[in-house]
Amino acid sequence: MDLIIKNGTIVTAKESFVADIAVKDGKIACIGSNLSMEAAKTVDATGKLVLPGAIDAHTHLAMPFGGTVSADGYLSGTRAAACGGVTTVFDYPMQRKGKGILGTIESRKAMCDPEACVDYAFHCIITDLNGGELLEEFQASVDSGVTSFKCFFVYKKEGMMVDDGTFIKILLKAKEVGAITNIHAENPDVIDLNIEKFLKEGKTSAWYHYLSRPEFVEAEADKRAVHWAKSVEAPLYIVHMADKEGLLAAVEAKTAGHPIFIETCPQYLEFTNEVYKREDGRNFVCSPPIKGQESQDALWDAIKKGTIDTVATDHCPFQSYEKDWGKDDFTKIPNGCAGVENLYPYMLAAANSGKISFNRAVELCSTNPAKIFGCDTKGSLTVGKDADIVIYDKEKDFTISVNTMHSDYDHTIWEGKKLHGYPVQTYVRGRMVYDNGEFTGEPGYGQFVKRKTALS
Ligand code: URP
Ligand code: ZN
Ligand code: ZN
Ligand code: ZN
Repeated sequence: MDLIIKNGTIVTAKESFVADIAVKDGKIACIGSNLSMEAAKTVDATGKLVLPGAIDAHTHLAMPFGGTVSADGYLSGTRAAACGGVTTVFDYPMQRKGKGILGTIESRKAMCDPEACVDYAFHCIITDLNGGELLEEFQASVDSGVTSFKCFFVYKKEGMMVDDGTFIKILLKAKEVGAITNIHAENPDVIDLNIEKFLKEGKTSAWYHYLSRPEFVEAEADKRAVHWAKSVEAPLYIVHMADKEGLLAAVEAKTAGHPIFIETCPQYLEFTNEVYKREDGRNFVCSPPIKGQESQDALWDAIKKGTIDTVATDHCPFQSYEKDWGKDDFTKIPNGCAGVENLYPYMLAAANSGKISFNRAVELCSTNPAKIFGCDTKGSLTVGKDADIVIYDKEKDFTISVNTMHSDYDHTIWEGKKLHGYPVQTYVRGRMVYDNGEFTGEPGYGQFVKRKTALS
């Protein structure tokens, strides 16, 4: 064996039990009591939890947005991921008008491959169907291991928005080839109206970012997306759900048996819209914006009941000087916040405090994203799966600070957040990439995850 982790409490989405776990050639070779085979390395995990690595199904690394590029590239973003127990990140190649899917994926892979410190998968953003021709490439995308697409109902000026007709064509074609469509759901026309009005009235602070896209602006679009998906019986994954009304509509459709999947993010679970009244409110500007207490309570309720499927980060940090562009005009603030290193520690601390079970945290952050997106080698500690493993110390106290994170950004919305319990080691395919505060991985070690069809 290459590695044996002994005496830890192994946590899956379903159960927890004390056992040893043996790793050979990057795979989990054996799980059992008192394993006695020889191993190149033995780790004593007595008293610790042993978890599957998290899969962050939503990160934007080196993403062009708002006149700049997000602050974490593939190296720093995946280094941070490793240090937070995330062993696979999903990123987004962005297809552009006149361009194809495969070329877009290949050029993103060329950027990512030499830098990735953990494994990576892609959802391909579709911005234009090139007169319908692009749909012919969906099958090839699935064959190449990219089995999900993403659409935005917003970001017209960034050239990313699709209309309802395009969205339905994508839903249908994705369903035909066994892929799943992701949607960013907000109503662009209402946002534009609100922005125009606020700017005319000289209302320019970060609070007006929230007021230009409050609860109902997201709810309308969530419901519309659910409506179209139901109408054509296509699978749908709603990213970064943040409002109660949209959530309840999606849950209703899901409960009725439609293949609707719901993601939320830690920032919506931790903060409320009050943050936009703060002097540094612009640092919290993301879309959809963080909503009020009622929505946050509904999100936690769904997390507890099992009706939210995944928690992912929407990691898309910008530097302070870039956020400052919008000091006097909220429309100039690049949208997005940091999170990839905080996802698993945050959800596991919620488990440690008794808010949810550790099994549920594993399900939300690892097992469900693997299932929904067809990562058949990942998402659980099972013999034959990739040895993507996190060792977690329930008694380790940790205070999040930009100084202890492993990204390239210069501030974090999570500054000062105290967590009881923290990951102490991360392994990707059996190789240690994080050890007690230190990144121990290597750029280029991360591999592209060729996925099976969605939901398979
Ligand atoms: O504000 C955000 N979320 N920025 C990243 C792009 C997106 O909408 O996911
Ligand atoms: Zn989005
Ligand atoms: Zn996003
Ligand atoms: Zn304790």
